[in-house]
Amino acid sequence: IEHGKPQRRVPWWSAARPALLERACAGTPRYVYDLDTVRDRARALAETAAVDRCFYAIKANPHPAILRTLTIEGFGLECVSLGELEHVFATLPELSPQRVLFTPSFAPRREYEAAFALGVTVTLDNVEALHRWPELFRGRTIWLRLDLGRGDGHHEKVRTGGIAAKFGLPLAKFDEFLDRAHQLDIRISGLHAHLGSGIEDPRHWREVYANLAGLADEAGNVESIDIGGGLPVPYTPDAQDFDLAAWRDGLDEIKAAYPRYALVIEPGRYLVAEAGVLLLSVTQVVEKDGVHRVGCDAGMNALLRPAMYDAWHGIHNLSRWDDSDARAFEVVGPICETGDVLGHSRLLPSATAEDDVMLVADTGAYGMTMANTYNLRALPAEDIIE
Ligand code: LLP
Repeated sequence: IEHGKPQRRVPWWSAARPALLERACAGTPRYVYDLDTVRDRARALAETAAVDRCFYAIKANPHPAILRTLTIEGFGLECVSLGELEHVFATLPELSPQRVLFTPSFAPRREYEAAFALGVTVTLDNVEALHRWPELFRGRTIWLRLDLGRGDGHHEKVRTGGIAAKFGLPLAKFDEFLDRAHQLDIRISGLHAHLGSGIEDPRHWREVYANLAGLADEAGNVESIDIGGGLPVPYTPDAQDFDLAAWRDGLDEIKAAYPRYALVIEPGRYLVAEAGVLLLSVTQVVEKDGVHRVGCDAGMNALLRPAMYDAWHGIHNLSRWDDSDARAFEVVGPICETGDVLGHSRLLPSATAEDDVMLVADTGAYGMTMANTYNLRALPAEDIIE
């Protein structure tokens, strides 16, 4: 432990290298998820006294074993498409619809119809839908997603509040929404805001909570306040673990002022990112114009985050763990795009060679679920470690 630096958790996979090398023999690219890590993060959040209900945003990783693990831990599930709803009920046929939220964006009418028929909680985020489809919403109980006028998060592409974002009813239309809902005999039983993903400042949720609670008093009949997900994980070596204690303190404070509302959260990344690794095999090692590149059997097709958000993931050579002689490599995939880079200038064993197994860390969230078949490369396999 370096003095002055807060202690970071040791990743589960550093003790699981032999098991991972064995899994890699079954074929790469391959995602491997550790369910103990998922449970650990779930318990850390569920222990928060102020939080009444937790829903897991399944878009982060809808693997059936992860859905089972989290529902056993008491989590509900948050879905954004009919495909996600169908997946949830196919995986967990016994799951009560009361434990499922439907929070779509610009979904077609038939998806709202299907969600009402399933009996899940539907969140709407615009007033136009009430004007266009009054009979669909008449007499229903729904939640309302608001844009509180600002967004936050690790990259502009994941900020879901403010003028540039397509999500949420702007506050300027709040009264119009309430009037229209009243005309249609709609009960708004929840207010929701999710303003971005990978938000570092623990005070963010406290502010959203206070904002929504103030508005809930105006809306009448509100029972639940959903302050979204967005909790970060430490991807880079110098990043710190999220300050859960500060996060909890902020929520406790607002809860004390507004005890009448049930507090709901819907995290994705925090629960699963650190639980997942992506295993790749080295295909070729090449030097060009003084730049050394390690090529792997998947890149942006298996893990889009570096190409899409310049996201940083730790990359390690599992086959040469104890090699101390290192040099800087570009770690690239096989896709026909210059942007197909998993990591720039990474220190890896100089002897890195064909068939070595590479591990890309913290890829349990938005990894497999954003993988694609570009260049007609196959999707990665997936494995669980219990
Ligand atoms: N609730 C809603 C309505 C959401 O849209 C999201 C994520 C979440 C909850 C969960 O957010 P989380 O706790 O995972 O931050 N692909 C991006 C992240 C996009 C997040 C989309 N919405 C990435 O890889 O960073």
